[in-house]
Amino acid sequence: MTAALFREFHGPLTVQSLPDPSPTPGGVVIRVQATGICRSDWHGWMGHDADVHLPHVPGHEFSGIVEETGTDVRKWKQGDRVTVPFVCACGECSVCRAGDQQVCPHQVQPGFTTWGSFAQFVMVEHADENLVRLPPELDFIPAASLGCRLATSYRAVVYQARSKAEDWLAIHGCGGVGLSAIMIAAALGIQTVAIDIDRRKLDLARKMGATQTIDASTIDDVPGAIADLTNGGANASIDALGSAITAMNSINCLRPRGTHVQVGLMTGKAARSSVPFDKIVARELEIRGSHGMQAHCYPELFELITSGRLDPSLLVSGTCNLHEASTLLTSESVFSKPGIVVINQFT
Ligand SMILES: NC(=O)c1ccc[n+]([C@@H]2O[C@H](COP(=O)([O-])OP(=O)(O)OC[C@H]3O[C@@H](n4cnc5c(N)ncnc54)[C@H](O)[C@@H]3O)[C@@H](O)[C@H]2O)c1
Ligand SMILES: [Zn+2]
Ligand SMILES: [Zn+2]
Repeated sequence: MTAALFREFHGPLTVQSLPDPSPTPGGVVIRVQATGICRSDWHGWMGHDADVHLPHVPGHEFSGIVEETGTDVRKWKQGDRVTVPFVCACGECSVCRAGDQQVCPHQVQPGFTTWGSFAQFVMVEHADENLVRLPPELDFIPAASLGCRLATSYRAVVYQARSKAEDWLAIHGCGGVGLSAIMIAAALGIQTVAIDIDRRKLDLARKMGATQTIDASTIDDVPGAIADLTNGGANASIDALGSAITAMNSINCLRPRGTHVQVGLMTGKAARSSVPFDKIVARELEIRGSHGMQAHCYPELFELITSGRLDPSLLVSGTCNLHEASTLLTSESVFSKPGIVVINQFT
């Protein structure tokens, strides 16, 4: 197969020929049709993720067609159109049995723990537990976002922030995760304040249905501005970047009994940021992490899409081939574009 591979962290990605994967007994090989370039791919390439071993093929946000099934796979066959949550759960442990596959301690993550989808083929373990069938009306390119950012944001908004219609939800960072959260919130009647430091991303956030926007590059007191717009603070707030500044702004913009949801990955010094425990107690705030979304929750998200209330194709700002993707990821230029970029050519 043709794939993009890096041999050292922060080193070049080279497009080359590699052996085709074959399925484990419970796994399938998927012919990748589309795969998004997510900030988490960049973290993996930078060496921020201890699970990534060299040499490595990145890519975890994909859609495709089942090419080959392992001997134990019961639910899937060649030709099925699928996506996969980037957390591929074991399906057997007590955490999985409780329905929390998104945090399975035995999880496999293509693109992190194993080779990923910046390739013609990717192998996915525990297929019966993790594969998700795509609705026929959903094209492969918008469906790629269901492998990571759209699905992650659905869980963050609905299950972790527990936002309801009319609530105020603040979203710090309007990249792929933040814009997905804004679209989902708009579809559910949740009011949003979208915050970014890039005007073009805020313009897109408004088009996606953000109720209010704040350009954090022009003001000092972001939490104060959010409190003013929301009449006393947001009910919930998501850090959709992953930095000490956005995490703190997110906690500080909450009204009493509000919920902060950490989606953006914290690395380096940011990972050891201090939490204002005094405020957590005095305002009875809640702090929650959010990690992908389990396969059995996808039908709710599909319902929003097939009923026409949510259109993931609006998230996609462009497509590219594997060569272009290699430059876009390593130069970080892909993240300066509003919306998400999806690889759809693999030879
Ligand atoms: N928890 C999960 O399951 C999960 C899933 C997907 C992605 N992630 C992580 O989420 C984060 C976001 O991913 P992405 O692909 O959307 O990244 P991205 O780089 O596309 O988006 C980040 C956005 O934050 C904005 N920003 C920068 N500084 C800011 C500031 N001070 N205030 C407000 N906004 C600011 C940027 O302009 C950009 O629009 C990354 O850390 C990624 O690794 C986590
Ligand atoms: Zn498990
Ligand atoms: Zn991702």
